Amino acid sequence: NSSNEEYIVETVVVNVFLSLIAGYLAHYLMKEYIPIFKQRGLFGKDMCKLNSGDIPEPMGVIAAAVYLIFVFLFISVPFIVWVQDSSGFPYVRLLSLLGGVISICAAILLGFVDDILDLRWRHKLLFPTLSSVPLLIVYKLSGHSTAMLLPKFIQPFIGTTYLDIGPLFYIYMGMLVIFCTNAINIIAGINGVEAGQGIVLGASIAIFNVIQIARLDVEEGWYHSLSLCLLLPFIATSVALYSLNRYPAKVFVGDTYCYWAGMLLAVVGILGHFSKTLLIFCVPQVFNFLYSIPQLFHFVPCPRHRLPRFDRDGDKKLHISVAEFEPEKISKLATIMVVTLRMTKLLKYEEFQKDGARWARINNLTILNLILKFTGPLYEYQLNNVFLGLQIACSALAFVGRFYFASFLYDE
Ligand code: UD1
Ligand code: MG
Repeated sequence: NSSNEEYIVETVVVNVFLSLIAGYLAHYLMKEYIPIFKQRGLFGKDMCKLNSGDIPEPMGVIAAAVYLIFVFLFISVPFIVWVQDSSGFPYVRLLSLLGGVISICAAILLGFVDDILDLRWRHKLLFPTLSSVPLLIVYKLSGHSTAMLLPKFIQPFIGTTYLDIGPLFYIYMGMLVIFCTNAINIIAGINGVEAGQGIVLGASIAIFNVIQIARLDVEEGWYHSLSLCLLLPFIATSVALYSLNRYPAKVFVGDTYCYWAGMLLAVVGILGHFSKTLLIFCVPQVFNFLYSIPQLFHFVPCPRHRLPRFDRDGDKKLHISVAEFEPEKISKLATIMVVTLRMTKLLKYEEFQKDGARWARINNLTILNLILKFTGPLYEYQLNNVFLGLQIACSALAFVGRFYFASFLYDE
């Protein structure tokens, strides 16, 4: 393989050029498609504006289409190098690339169908799980281990450096895919926040990949270059999308974008062998998911929209949005959740009387509402900036954690 390895840098350079073109093209095409979306009835209402008009949705599908075209074009670059290799064609590497692309295509399809049909929850969960199968088969085929590196202080007790968790590892990766495909979609509803998350997460992981390519041996480095080459055109097309989706939004990204971005992150994490590190970068998303559990699994009521409430008759800022229920009528487990959240000051809770019964009013359990609980009402663009600032700060901490604290736990 030695001749291949010199080409990592060249391949990435070509990818950067292609990505820049993809970004410009995506921006141009999305603007061109705005009237076509409206004609076809593909639009939504901006719930945080006085008179929003029709906002084209899901514009993420144009960005995703441009992304796919450029990834397909890009595949020929490493391919040309590989066919010239005297030591044999690296089929497994081509398979990794193709397996990843299949899962990404499936996520884009699911997102688009969801945007058009508003799928049921159980259908939404089944499809991404199954669409991870090609990816997991490629993982198995490429002989990648299902062993976990144990922290230094645990090793003497178990007597090994690695613990092989076998099938559990595949279950873990399947769950990672479900988590990622939904993680971005449930921090949504204000201008710029979905594409913004995609850019910050994508860029953080791309920087991580560059560091790892420089640090690791060429074999492992190649998997990071694969991740980088899938991420760069994504970042470019996301920036194009963000420029139209940021406050005041001219387009909405749709579920297409959210599923595409989420699946892409899962794919690069799995193929690049850094799925644990991926989760450290996603700390705000993991927190938001855990915080949302009482509503996602209907322990307490979950309204169709949980985005913050726009005070259209008052200060024109975003306020906490709420869910209401009768405390007597929720389950024991739900009561424990509510009490725990109140004790940890993570919940705004009020009681009131309605038709002679005792009712409770809580904030909808999303990180955006939680930020508003601490800051008070904010303008829409401010809330987006605060959240993205938080996401960037978490990424910075993730780098410190990954490279500084990890050396206390693991030998590398
Ligand atoms: C997810 C969230 C939901 C949130 C919604 C907002 C969960 C379980 N679901 O639902 O709480 O309200 O996203 O996207 O957490 N919109 C805006 N401004 C924006 C972006 C979107 O007003 O900047 C509105 C538009 O009316 C748009 C709609 O949100 O049409 C899209 O919602 P959709 O993606 O269908 O909601 P879900 O993904 O089902
Ligand atoms: Mg959505």
